[in-house]
Amino acid sequence: MNQKNLKKGSIESFESNWNNQKETLYNHWTRDVVPNNQIQLAFREHYRLFNKLIFEPKEYIKTLEVGCGRGSLSSYFADNGSDCTLVDISENVIQVAKNIFKKCNLEADFVVADAKELPFKKNEFDLVFSIGLLEHFEEIDSVINDQIRVLKKGGTFIGYVVPENLENVQKDFEWINQVLKANASQEEIVRTQNKIEVFRSDENSERYIKSCEKSGLINVQSAGTYPLPMVSHSKDFPFTLMNPDSETILVEHFFKILEEREKKYNHDRWLCDEEYGQAFLVWGQKG
Ligand SMILES: C[S@@+](CC[C@H](N)C(=O)[O-])C[C@H]1O[C@@H](n2cnc3c(N)ncnc32)[C@H](O)[C@@H]1O
Repeated sequence: MNQKNLKKGSIESFESNWNNQKETLYNHWTRDVVPNNQIQLAFREHYRLFNKLIFEPKEYIKTLEVGCGRGSLSSYFADNGSDCTLVDISENVIQVAKNIFKKCNLEADFVVADAKELPFKKNEFDLVFSIGLLEHFEEIDSVINDQIRVLKKGGTFIGYVVPENLENVQKDFEWINQVLKANASQEEIVRTQNKIEVFRSDENSERYIKSCEKSGLINVQSAGTYPLPMVSHSKDFPFTLMNPDSETILVEHFFKILEEREKKYNHDRWLCDEEYGQAFLVWGQKG
């Protein structure tokens, strides 16, 4: 299909982006003690934080990741003995996720399905979450409602939302990416320019909180998260990694920033103001 003819936000555009990108093969999960790059560091922090936000039970839970992509966060849960189900509308990416899990000796169930009609019974999961999914819907009530439907009473819903926000932590570091871009190969520049845009909402957490409460979630909270820049010649998601040495330097530097944040704030180091973070979280418990 001609990329130009794809409707912005359509399923085909996700499918095409997964098809065409070498980043598709990245694995954001690692057993290594120190993450190898900034994306692995970010996912490790997501996992650490998500565990803190889970209401009950805390361990060996039944999880559902909706819009799983390559299933990076579910990899952590699966590695720690949870019973994981991963859903995505793209058959291509479900195959990618299956391959990654197999290669890493991780087990999970994989389902190709639309987030608007999850093929599960009600009250099935202890934790239902998504990373970078909810902002791609213009109408979110039905998507959130279906995730809460399949959640057990007392279970946890977590939505990690990446809004259209040009004023966040990234803003002050954009010049670094411009310098890196100027040094990127022509092939790299053309490749990232050819990515198909998908719909991304600019609504803040209020809209999502309302929707969660309407669907029966209690103790609903929100906060910004991912208080670090993404340093790359491509700031697209999934953003392109730099050479391993540069990534190692970044990881070391970012850990120092996180240690400083730990000392400075009396909240988790991976949380921040909603306006500052690369993303925000909305979470709550099924009443
Ligand atoms: C930005 S990616 C995030 C991937 C993954 N959660 C991660 O953290 O890397 C959004 C994912 O949502 C999937 N998606 C988009 N619309 C969907 C829908 N209606 N139902 C299920 N998955 C959907 C896309 O195929 C894509 O894999």
